[in-house]
Amino acid sequence: GLNGFPHFMLKEIYDQPETVRNACRGRMNVSEGVAVLGGLQSKMDEIKNLRKLIIVSCGTSYHAGLIGRYIFEALTDLNVEVELASEFRYRKLRLDETTGVLAISQSGETIDTLAAIREARRKGALTIGLVNVVGSTIARETDCGVYCHAGPEIGVASTKIFVSQLVILNLMALLIGRYQMVSLNEGVSLLKALNRLPDQVSDILARASQIDELARIYQKFDNNLFIGRQTHAAVAMEGALKLKEISYIHAEAYAAGEMKHGPISLIDENFPTIALLANDASYDKMLSNIQEIRARSGPVLAITYEGDDQCARHCDDLFRVPQTHDLLQPILTTIPLQLFAYYCARYRGTEIDKPRNLAKSVTVE
Ligand code: M6R
Repeated sequence: GLNGFPHFMLKEIYDQPETVRNACRGRMNVSEGVAVLGGLQSKMDEIKNLRKLIIVSCGTSYHAGLIGRYIFEALTDLNVEVELASEFRYRKLRLDETTGVLAISQSGETIDTLAAIREARRKGALTIGLVNVVGSTIARETDCGVYCHAGPEIGVASTKIFVSQLVILNLMALLIGRYQMVSLNEGVSLLKALNRLPDQVSDILARASQIDELARIYQKFDNNLFIGRQTHAAVAMEGALKLKEISYIHAEAYAAGEMKHGPISLIDENFPTIALLANDASYDKMLSNIQEIRARSGPVLAITYEGDDQCARHCDDLFRVPQTHDLLQPILTTIPLQLFAYYCARYRGTEIDKPRNLAKSVTVE
């Protein structure tokens, strides 16, 4: 049930510390720096020999895939592609047993993702599932896979499953990467960071009223831009999708480096930007994007990390998330964006758990 929450979406956002624990339970050997994923065991010889991984999915699960690419590139030798499942089917791809096709799906019933897996199998690729619903069609039709163990997600807007998918993508990549270039120390430090993550998620949730207050201000705008770089470009896409689907407020997402190539012409005092910053090599570039936006009178709400002492001078509003391992940082940056969309929708009075025109699982093309 709702456990006293007014909407399933909010309940599921608050489930997330537990969602992280459930995704990790029994799956970490911290002292050896390795992940233990029983569902991949039977195919481990094939998985170790993969040269290429193609991630296929839709919607929020596609955004998880985009972040997954960075995770696999950081931890493994695999060449990684990410493709919308609805487009994958129409490409001319040479697939064989050295290619793995990883389907990410909450429901395990999304028709395009299922069709992509069927096509990949026909062409001889190894198919892998990352699915929440146990016994679902994609779970049954893939050669091997991992479950989220996140329990049911009722809200049409996917929240806790995105977080679960990101955690498990890290575990999958670590499992493979420990046969390749990941050292013991690197493995241990990722797993230790995962152990700290639930408390860091709780820390953000305990400050939800700050996001509520920001949403009260920003929900009056009809258009928004979300920007970030690398993994945070995908988080920007997820933040924009959440806002669109439940509050019906128009939002676009861009990798921040694209601003000068077009979108900056949209900016004026009525077109705010939600800028996502991380403590990485892209930080200075993000800061100059923010300055360019402010120079054109665009309001800027920054989501940044604890310890960032520069950004506050350059933005109108700011929310800080704790710092974690680089590969886990997108998880923490996502949480305030989920809350932001939720509170904007509440101020706009929309049907949060069942937005118009949308179904929880898309089983027709
Ligand atoms: O069940 P799946 O993960 O395959 O679903 C994919 C998308 O339909 C889903 O993520 C959709 O975009 C959500 N409404 C996003 O909140």
